[in-house]
Amino acid sequence: MSVHLSDAQKKELAEIAKRIVRDGRGILAADESSGTIGKRFDTIGVENVEENRRQYRSLLMSCDQSVKDSIGGVILYHETLYQKDDSGKLLRDFLKERGIAVGIKVDKGVVKLMGTKDETTTQGLDGLGERCAQYKADGCDFAKWRCVLKITDSTPSQLAIDENANVLARYASICQMNGIVPIVEPEILPDGNHTLEKCQEVTEKVVAACYKALSDHHVYLEGTLLKPNMVTAGHDCPTKYTPEQVAMATLTALRRTVPPAMPGVTFLSGGQSETSATQHLNAINAADVLRPWALTFSYGRALQASVLKAWKGKAGNVAAAQKVLLHRAKMNRLAAQGKYNTSMEGSGSADNQSLHVANHQY
Ligand code: 13P
Repeated sequence: MSVHLSDAQKKELAEIAKRIVRDGRGILAADESSGTIGKRFDTIGVENVEENRRQYRSLLMSCDQSVKDSIGGVILYHETLYQKDDSGKLLRDFLKERGIAVGIKVDKGVVKLMGTKDETTTQGLDGLGERCAQYKADGCDFAKWRCVLKITDSTPSQLAIDENANVLARYASICQMNGIVPIVEPEILPDGNHTLEKCQEVTEKVVAACYKALSDHHVYLEGTLLKPNMVTAGHDCPTKYTPEQVAMATLTALRRTVPPAMPGVTFLSGGQSETSATQHLNAINAADVLRPWALTFSYGRALQASVLKAWKGKAGNVAAAQKVLLHRAKMNRLAAQGKYNTSMEGSGSADNQSLHVANHQY
């Protein structure tokens, strides 16, 4: 018997996707693996043990109720989904109470593709259907799977483009069969000295391949979200581009490759500073071109860098750190509506420092 999504399943998926990105809302990506959060903790001198991870994620999830006006979904790491705060309340219940969708990272990291120049695919398909069914039962409504592509003189190779597009489509179809909205994330790393034009060309190729594969796998686009990189020059490119140039290159690449049936583009921050990530998002939403999807944020580093700095692992700093999170979320919500300007930042909260990590892992 053939397997198709029922009308009721499609309706549920489409509603979840739309709800996450409605009215400028975006996503907090708090799904760093235990190794990756350790690198963030290193910067503030906090030891990477489960108790500190629990304290930090409690801080994020129990932020003031009004965060729900800016954040439509939070992506969690497996460990966090089952953690409780000091009073014994499940952290995910804070999100449920606020009407924020609970997301879960389901990939199992990158592995090398033989015969390529350090290119990768992403693993985690084995048992994914069972894991998705369990996550749905445990309150998750969406998932994330990150694929990584690299720009050099000879990459991304056609093999890497095709393999990553296919695995993203396969993951997306498994999620949808289990009532979970898949975030499709083909991240092109900002490492290198390539120009804005080069990044645009590669982004078009990669995103086009993803939508071909999603179509081949019968994925229901209305019940998905796309999480791409913004089109930016390489981190070491000597030419600097304005936010308006980044916005036009990004919009051009997406308008050429992303079907309007897909409801929301939720950009990763990719090592941009908090201020650049917000300014670029605003320029994208202020540009005078037809944009058939919501264009919003799904930031990890660019929503958390100044929160971590404010917290420093001290219980006495929790309230101040939560204020910082609320502020950054609000600034990004305004940017997702094209209504942000730097004068709204107030004194000293936005972080101008590059958050670039070479060959970034998640
Ligand atoms: P950054 O915003 O830190 O790039 O991370 C977002 C993310 O979820 C990458 O998978």
